[in-house]
Amino acid sequence: MNVPTATILLFVVPLIHHAQLIIFNRTDNDTSNESNDSSREENTKERFVNGSELTFLYWNSLFIYPNSILGNDRPIEIEFGKELSVLDYWIDGFPLKAITHGWLSSDDNCTGVFTIKTAYIDTGGYNVFSVDWSHISKDIIYSTPAILTLSVGIVIAEFFERVVAYTGIYPSDVHLIGHSLGAHVMGSCGSNFKLGKIGRITGEETERLDPARPGFMPIPLQREHLNKDDGEFVDVIHTTGGTLGCMESLGHVDFYPNGGKAPQSGSGILILDSIINSHSRSYELYADSVYYRRSLVATQCDSWSDFKSNKCENNIKIFMGHDAGEYTSARGNFYLKTNGSSPFGII
Ligand SMILES: *[C@@H]1O[C@H](CO)[C@@H](O)[C@H](O)[C@H]1NC(C)=O
Ligand SMILES: *[C@@H]1O[C@H](CO)[C@@H](O)[C@H](O)[C@H]1NC(C)=O
Ligand SMILES: *[C@@H]1O[C@H](CO)[C@@H](O)[C@H](O)[C@H]1NC(C)=O
Ligand SMILES: *[C@@H]1O[C@H](CO)[C@@H](O)[C@H](O)[C@H]1NC(C)=O
Ligand SMILES: *[C@@H]1O[C@H](CO)[C@@H](O)[C@H](O)[C@H]1NC(C)=O
Ligand SMILES: *[C@@H]1O[C@H](CO)[C@@H](O)[C@H](O)[C@H]1NC(C)=O
Ligand SMILES: *[C@@H]1O[C@H](CO)[C@@H](O)[C@H](O)[C@H]1NC(C)=O
Repeated sequence: MNVPTATILLFVVPLIHHAQLIIFNRTDNDTSNESNDSSREENTKERFVNGSELTFLYWNSLFIYPNSILGNDRPIEIEFGKELSVLDYWIDGFPLKAITHGWLSSDDNCTGVFTIKTAYIDTGGYNVFSVDWSHISKDIIYSTPAILTLSVGIVIAEFFERVVAYTGIYPSDVHLIGHSLGAHVMGSCGSNFKLGKIGRITGEETERLDPARPGFMPIPLQREHLNKDDGEFVDVIHTTGGTLGCMESLGHVDFYPNGGKAPQSGSGILILDSIINSHSRSYELYADSVYYRRSLVATQCDSWSDFKSNKCENNIKIFMGHDAGEYTSARGNFYLKTNGSSPFGII
């Protein structure tokens, strides 16, 4: 994360969450017609999202040696509406991984959540898309990109419907990965995808977009948050639950590395600093799981305290990150401890 973004987050995130907590306190029974409430109008910038506001970059590689075809430094931009051009590069038989960033994200093609893209290109064997919606996500007023996650997801769904139709890949071989607000974007993409059910959606550090929850969303959203119905298998990695992210289970499988709360092990001493580092820990862990296969072993358990006191030792164990895709029938909450730096797996 670069310095300006980190600085903005340090000061703005607590302010915004605090302000929303005080100003907006809607309840489910608040049925008054507020369509002309000016303060809400200001925050409800629902609008048409044009596909050309998003950037879709396609990447691929075969295997590390030779790291041929496109590799990590040669993305091909595929314009919205011109998806047919992907056929010049597409590798038949490889699954599709599509990755997107979150709020205020300044991730370029190689940093932030896109380190997952880099991991998949380094190891080879995938058709990869990075999806950039930063024109919308850069809005400092959190609720604007938040309310637009639905529309952005619909646009991305249209894009991938055409990619699926042209390439012939099965929707079940499509895996959408989103960080922070990007998780809800990918959830919306999954739920609006018309050619079948998307195989897997992974949400990382997912805020709960719940209008009834004080402190989060001041506006009634047309769609609340990433949920189980959005894909055949929905898994969520929680690393800042209770601060930037949420603790509640949202997917078929929810992972809570180190309990799911900031600070994550090894992520700093200053409290805000460590929250932000923990916020990025979810994709660092995921990228690690691509390089070090089957290294992050998680145990099904009802709580972190039960897990820590070894009450769940005999429960089912699955892998977090990339290899969770092998356990699509798994359900529940899974806990694990990680090392403070890569490789994070504790064998
Ligand atoms: C908001 O609502 C919650 C419960 O619904 C209540 O505990 C809290 O005091 C309220 N906050 C304000 C600022 O009204
Ligand atoms: C909301 O409405 C339901 C049904 O009308 C009622 O049972 C419930 O008590 C109400 N809750 C509040 C907080 O007013
Ligand atoms: C709210 O008011 C607007 C016009 O001010 C109207 O179009 C809309 O139908 C109303 N909604 C409800 C739920 O009454
Ligand atoms: C909203 O505007 C409509 C007409 O545009 C009016 O009938 C209604 O009373 C207004 N509601 C509020 C809460 O001001
Ligand atoms: C979307 O934006 C592009 C480029 O600015 C423009 O050519 C196109 O007409 C727009 N599409 C719609 C539906 O507004
Ligand atoms: C990301 O990709 C775009 C489009 O290919 C390119 O213009 C930009 O320089 C790339 N950024 C980095 C950091 O590689
Ligand atoms: C964490 O990683 C370091 C470096 O690879 C290693 O020396 C250390 O033993 C690891 N710690 C655990 C608990 O696995």
